Amino acid sequence: MDRPLQCLPKMEYISGRSGERFKSLSRPSAQPMRIKEVSLDACTRLSTKMVEFDRLLGGGIVAGSLTLVGGDPGIGKSTLMLQLAHKLAEQGLLVLYVCGEESVEQTSLRARRLGVGHDSLYLLSETLFSQIKHHVDRLQPQVLIVDSIQILYKGELPSSPGSVAQVRELATEFMHLAKGLGIATFLIGHVTKSGEIAGPKVLEHIVDTVLDFEGDRQHGYRLMRSVKNRFGPTEDIVLFQMGIEGLSEVSNLFGRAH
Ligand SMILES: Nc1ncnc2c1ncn2[C@@H]1O[C@H](COP(=O)(O)OP(=O)(O)OP(=O)(O)O)[C@@H](O)[C@H]1O
Ligand SMILES: [Mg+2]
Repeated sequence: MDRPLQCLPKMEYISGRSGERFKSLSRPSAQPMRIKEVSLDACTRLSTKMVEFDRLLGGGIVAGSLTLVGGDPGIGKSTLMLQLAHKLAEQGLLVLYVCGEESVEQTSLRARRLGVGHDSLYLLSETLFSQIKHHVDRLQPQVLIVDSIQILYKGELPSSPGSVAQVRELATEFMHLAKGLGIATFLIGHVTKSGEIAGPKVLEHIVDTVLDFEGDRQHGYRLMRSVKNRFGPTEDIVLFQMGIEGLSEVSNLFGRAH
């Protein structure tokens, strides 16, 4: 299957060299274009094959977009993202799932329970950003899922994983990776005690889309809300039902799952 086309000019990603980390590959450098002359054919959306979730995103996932998925511990973030990874891999898309919080074996165990497993779906248990970037460069996935942003770290920074400095810097790195290589990227983020994702709104400004996963862990229903979306509306919600086989969408409040 063809790689999705990109909305942005291809960039060379050079990590570590401050000031010139992102060098445009287009030679000569980009020129101003009349807005009417910009071809929108290059803006691809990937269908998640989950009708309600596609709708929440504004019609599917935009290639090269960066989405933050936030929620309380244990609410089902990893479950949903693993199911999403499977649905995308089933379509022939190359998906890399970085399971920093769990081992590959633990994630595989959950995957088996959910019936998730496809040749195009790769797992990587790694927390050091430079290593993750190395594997992204090598594998060139079309979709990247990071579980979670708070557990990763950049070796160059003195602060510990989950600190505002680490989280902000990592999100910026992933933003450039997503835009530069056209990778649809999802960052899972825990909600802090004050109800914010990774501290004082640090991430919300950097990413394209913010999805909030809410619900009562004692009950089966979960709500996903779009808090910010550069490519779609924000007034929508999606209802999910948690079961043994994972999360299924509920198309109305009377429990008609599909
Ligand atoms: N065998 C099972 N049958 C039904 N539901 C299960 C089963 N195992 C786990 N769950 C559900 O999955 C939830 C945990 O989901 P998941 O690990 O995806 O959450 P998370 O948001 O990623 O958590 P964390 O913040 O710890 O990473 C549990 O709270 C439970 O509701
Ligand atoms: Mg998890």
